[in-house]
Amino acid sequence: MDGVSAQAEAFPPDFVWGAATSSYQIEGATTEDGRGESIWDRFCATPGKVRNAESGAVACDFYHRYRDDIGLMRALGLDAFRFSIAWPRILPDGRGRVNAPGLDFYDRLVDALLEAGIRPFPTLYHWDLPQALEDAGGWPARATAEAFVEYVDTVAARLGDRITDWTTHNEPFCSSWVGYGWGVHAPGRASVADALAAAHHLLLSHGWAVEVIRRHSPDAEVGIVLDLWPMQPASDDATDADAARIADGVHSRWFLDPLLRGEYPEDMLEHFSHVAPPVADGDLAVIAEPLEFVGVNNYSRGLVRADPAGGEPLEVRAPTGKLTDMGWEVYPDGLYEVIMRLHREYAVPKIYVTENGAAFADVVTHDGRVHDLERRAYLADYTSATGRTLADGAPVAGYFVWSLLDTFEWSFGYSKRFGLVYVDYATLARIPKDSFHWYRDLIARRPEPAASART
Ligand code: FCB
Repeated sequence: MDGVSAQAEAFPPDFVWGAATSSYQIEGATTEDGRGESIWDRFCATPGKVRNAESGAVACDFYHRYRDDIGLMRALGLDAFRFSIAWPRILPDGRGRVNAPGLDFYDRLVDALLEAGIRPFPTLYHWDLPQALEDAGGWPARATAEAFVEYVDTVAARLGDRITDWTTHNEPFCSSWVGYGWGVHAPGRASVADALAAAHHLLLSHGWAVEVIRRHSPDAEVGIVLDLWPMQPASDDATDADAARIADGVHSRWFLDPLLRGEYPEDMLEHFSHVAPPVADGDLAVIAEPLEFVGVNNYSRGLVRADPAGGEPLEVRAPTGKLTDMGWEVYPDGLYEVIMRLHREYAVPKIYVTENGAAFADVVTHDGRVHDLERRAYLADYTSATGRTLADGAPVAGYFVWSLLDTFEWSFGYSKRFGLVYVDYATLARIPKDSFHWYRDLIARRPEPAASART
């Protein structure tokens, strides 16, 4: 048996193989068909925020080319496609007026995926908040959580009859901390109090949305996607161990504990006692609404050391490990570790790897191809790690590569390529990379269902 076949054998026949994307990173057409402004349009237009002042205005032009891209998904043999819905296409002002052409686009996309035999796996929020809502206070304001429910109600009423797997939020850690705490993502605020308030309202809006989705899609499975990276001490020093505990608290437990245990972690409430989040009575019960699945986005790990100046823990990169073009260490054991943690410590009933992948500096060679051997090796190692979690009893139901296409990579603009498919941004031509062919082979060699399962 060759390597790819051996690897494919580690997964059950009904394992979901997918690829992931998000609206602002691929769609383009940001001013078409009545779409409103999002915080990412504004952020990109703010000098100094995004490399080369690039934006998602055109991106991969998926808005117009989705049918061809579904052709690529079919060629890959994908079972599922993870995409996100752009709130400003549906409600250009955030609330109130519904923009019919926006809903029509996702209606067409969902139908085209279903026709192609590909399961649509939509995320309701992947960071493109309507700017009007940011102007009214953004995620630190409780009213934004109310607005999210209105938006979800509109989308689920339209698509709920066909969607079987809904995800509310993508990476509330990034939406809150990277966007409101560090100012590196839209909307670019840098306030710990805002980050904690935003995180709370993202979680609250998730809980409210779950109930609304279930009303429109009673048979669907509902989950949330978290970015979980192991946070490990950079040395044996006790102060580094403590720094790693805090980093883990901020990145992971601050989200896992309320969602899966109905409480914020005690040690972290103490850590942030000067900026307590605005928790109202009953909020935690809403946030802990039971879920069918949790999605894990994992790319690497954090190595953490204490700040000698006494500030927040500092994340350091592994000096000797192999790094991707993002400067992220290739550390497949980390994916194994976070999945096993969800299984063992949080008893999550079903887990999807909703994002995993790597940026490398791809080039088109004289044969017109992209020989991305490093990405292929990365994906082979990380899918193996996923297979090991299955062997050790974790309920992992699927794996999505980030990303189907090279995309707009947020503040890095177009400089980081994560795709299985290369995008020539000058012509928008698509070139499947070698990793695409590798992934297609892995999917194609899935084991046959047992005879009894077929009848
Ligand atoms: C994740 C995001 C995704 C993409 C990858 C590289 O944090 O969810 O949009 O940018 O990182």
